[in-house]
Amino acid sequence: MAREFTSVGVVGLGTMGAGIVEVFARNGIDVVAVEISEGALERGRANLTGSTDRAVARGKLAEADRDALLSRVDFQVGLDALHSVDLVIEAVPEHLDLKQRLFAELDGICRPEAILATNTSSLSVTEISVATGRPNQVIGIHFFNPAPVMKLVEVVRTVVTSAEVVADVEALCARLGKVDVTINDRAGFIANALLFGYLNHAVAMYESHYATREDIDAAMKLGCGLPMGPLALMDLIGLDTAYEILDTMYRRGGRDRRHAPVPLLKQMVTAGLLGRKSGRGFYTYERPGSPKVVPDERTPAATGPGLADGARAIAKVGVVGSGTMATGIIEVFAKAGYEVVSVTRGAEKSAKVCEAVKTSLNKGVVRGKLSERDRDAALGRVTWSATLDHLADVDLVVEAVVEELSVKKALFASLDEICKPGVLLATTTSSLPVIDVAMATHRPADVVGLHFFNPAPVMPLVEIVRTIRTSEETAATARAVCAVLGKTGVVCADRSGFVVNALLFPYLNDAVRMLEASYSTADDIDHAMKLGCGYPMGPFELLDVVGLDVSLAIQRELYLELREPGFAPAPLLEHLVTAGYLGRKSGRGFRDHTNR
Ligand SMILES: NC(=O)c1ccc[n+]([C@@H]2O[C@H](COP(=O)([O-])OP(=O)(O)OC[C@H]3O[C@@H](n4cnc5c(N)ncnc54)[C@H](O)[C@@H]3O)[C@@H](O)[C@H]2O)c1
Repeated sequence: MAREFTSVGVVGLGTMGAGIVEVFARNGIDVVAVEISEGALERGRANLTGSTDRAVARGKLAEADRDALLSRVDFQVGLDALHSVDLVIEAVPEHLDLKQRLFAELDGICRPEAILATNTSSLSVTEISVATGRPNQVIGIHFFNPAPVMKLVEVVRTVVTSAEVVADVEALCARLGKVDVTINDRAGFIANALLFGYLNHAVAMYESHYATREDIDAAMKLGCGLPMGPLALMDLIGLDTAYEILDTMYRRGGRDRRHAPVPLLKQMVTAGLLGRKSGRGFYTYERPGSPKVVPDERTPAATGPGLADGARAIAKVGVVGSGTMATGIIEVFAKAGYEVVSVTRGAEKSAKVCEAVKTSLNKGVVRGKLSERDRDAALGRVTWSATLDHLADVDLVVEAVVEELSVKKALFASLDEICKPGVLLATTTSSLPVIDVAMATHRPADVVGLHFFNPAPVMPLVEIVRTIRTSEETAATARAVCAVLGKTGVVCADRSGFVVNALLFPYLNDAVRMLEASYSTADDIDHAMKLGCGYPMGPFELLDVVGLDVSLAIQRELYLELREPGFAPAPLLEHLVTAGYLGRKSGRGFRDHTNR
């Protein structure tokens, strides 16, 4: 029989502690909530009441339940109040010496049978446990932020944690309505080990002016369906906490340079820009602790269709190619009211593309998203051609042919001869340098990348890739076109992977390495990212959908361009591709899809 927890203690009522108090109290457990001073206690109380009041306002918690919840919490200054609880969980700042001192004190105060738990994100639970005389009763219970919302708990057992304690804590997690994954004591456990390299990389992109904070965040939200962008997430986590986690992971996790905190982080922490909790981090918030972003001097001026400075007028658009992307892009432009010239390599291919566009538009009608009239009008705007000469009078050409540099360069050289001056020439490449394509023409200032996502009619994001030769006017025109299409255009520099793939694929590759190292299972890793971080799919689900061969090719490109040792493709990924396990499309990847 699992032990009964009737009262628990929570030490430190900051970002995480206050949320953890709420989780216990919501589930009928009495909580002794402890802080270091009266002032900190008041802030902790405000954190808790702020969160529960918001839940009441949103209709997620009845007023009476909130009152009952708050009545279960006994706010106290000092650890002595914890003498009779069954379990203590600490959520004080991420410093080993602080946590060790705290555990030594708790060991002297708490009942001998009490379990002592840490919510550390990156420190060694083993090192914390040996500061007590009961290391077998010390365990990691790692909640995710915000604790009342995120379903996952990582239960971290050390080599000395007793099996009964692990079982008791697992049963407690179930009682709290959480899903637990139980793992060994390794820096960053599952989720943070996969998350923090990505977050740090996003900060590096921002620091190097690769893209704006809004564009980096929009790219990951809209391109990957994440609940928030990486910089907004850093603000939620707290930049001081994020710095400490990165620093510990760098030292404990094999000195992977990707975990060495980007210098900007340290500067921001020193300047008191800690994120939401201090009212300012990458963004500015209404007041400390508020989730509401307010405009500041970095907020871009509002632009809408046709408003972008210096944009050229675009009325007629050529789309070259006959694959999935070209088909989707034709539909997107035609629906937005542009006249479209589709060019393929032959009448047969044109007929196929035309059929595919019709089928997709018809689906829109069946689903009630498009009227029959609008469908017919959209189709009426498209002309079908098999010769590039028909692009002589278009204002914009979007190229979506096969992903081979020689083919794209030859096409751009032809377009250079055929198209009138001042035309915007865009490539949808997802991995080739746009500058290589631009230099195949005599007008590199007019060439830009327009990286649509698949399926183009559905995905709201377009990456606008500026090369070092792209003119201001070209970029402004590309932004204005995206706005007319109803897409969010994010502007970034011409580097391998642009924003989304550069941030996404190393994370997927890290997940493969974690599996390869037998730290956890594909199911638990997928669970951790979905339930701990709100990702729509776990890394292995996503890899199987994207295709392992495609993923490997992108990861290789990133590695070749950036020479970052941590980006080297995971050997397991290479082996699976060699074995023909490419994901859903071949029936087997990380999982077997033949019987699903
Ligand atoms: N922020 C996150 O997203 C997140 C997520 C999961 C886990 N964690 C982990 O949770 C822990 C706390 O992080 P946080 O972000 O909540 O930090 P925080 O800075 O928001 O809060 C820390 C709180 O601890 C209090 N405190 C400091 N020393 C104390 C002491 N000796 N006794 C009692 N209280 C004390 C502080 O007054 C403060 O209120 C860290 O170990 C962190 O790694 C953080």
